[in-house]
Amino acid sequence: MPLPEFHLPEKPLPASPQVGLILGSGLGSFVDSLSDCTTINYDQIEGLPTSTVPGHAGRLHLGSLGGINVAVAQGRLHCYEGHSAFTAAAPVRLLHQLGVSTLILTNAAGIVNANFKPGRWMLLSDHLNLARLSPLTGSAEFIDQTKAYSRELRELLKAVASDSGDTKLYEGVYAWINGPEYETPAEIRMLRTLGADAVGMSTVPEVIQARALGIRVVAMSCLTNFGAGLSGKTLSHEEVIEVGQQASRQLSNLLENAIPGFVEI
Ligand code: HPA
Repeated sequence: MPLPEFHLPEKPLPASPQVGLILGSGLGSFVDSLSDCTTINYDQIEGLPTSTVPGHAGRLHLGSLGGINVAVAQGRLHCYEGHSAFTAAAPVRLLHQLGVSTLILTNAAGIVNANFKPGRWMLLSDHLNLARLSPLTGSAEFIDQTKAYSRELRELLKAVASDSGDTKLYEGVYAWINGPEYETPAEIRMLRTLGADAVGMSTVPEVIQARALGIRVVAMSCLTNFGAGLSGKTLSHEEVIEVGQQASRQLSNLLENAIPGFVEI
C-alpha cells in the first residue's frame, strides 16, 4: 500500500537532510544549535496532524549541524492523545520523504532500574511494546526487530560522550506504556520483572515505522524521574519538563560532536 505524501509550503528549503531527529518533552532547546535554520509549523504541512501536549510545539526545523544537513521534528504525536500508532509515526514518514536515512529519537522516561539516576541519559538497546499497538497494522509487513537499535551508532555516541568528559550514558530496555497517566508502583515493579530499565509513553511506534522504511535508528531516554514508588515523591509533568530542559544542554553538546560521525558509518 503506497504511503500518503506530505506537502510542504512552497518556499526555498535547505538541501535534503541525511539525519533526522524527533525530540521529546522539554528537549526542544537542541534546535538552538542548528545553523542556517528554516522552520515550518506542522499546521503548514499538509498531511501532518498537530500535537496537543504542552511542551510539544509542532515545528519542523531544517538546518545544519557540524556541516551535516539535519531535519528536526519538534513535537511528537502520542497514542494517548487519541492518535493511532500509524498517525503517531507520521513525523518519521515525513523525515523519510525528505531524505533522512538515520534517525535520532529522544524521549523523557521514568526510571525502572533503581541503579540509574535522574537527569541522565539512557541509550535504548531494545524495547518492550506493552501498548501492543503498531503503525504497521493493516499491512502485512513482518519486519525483523532483532537489531532495531543500531549498535554502531550507540557505540559512537558512547565513545563521543566519554571523550568529551560527559557523564557516562546508560544503556537499557525501554518499556512503552500508552499512558497518559503515570504508572502505579505495582506496575513499575512488574516492568522491572519483565526486564525494563525505563518506561515512557512514546518512541516505539516511530522506531517500528523507521525500521519498516529501512531507516537506521538510535534512541535516547532522558531519565527525568524515578518510576512511581521508587522514591518518596509523586510524579508531575512539570518536573518531567524541567529535568528534560536541564538535560537538553548535555544532549546538544553530545549530538553536535557525534552527528558528523553518523554519516561516515
Ligand atoms: N512514566 C512514564 N512516562 C514518563 C515518565 C514516567 O515515570 N517520566 C517521563 N515520562
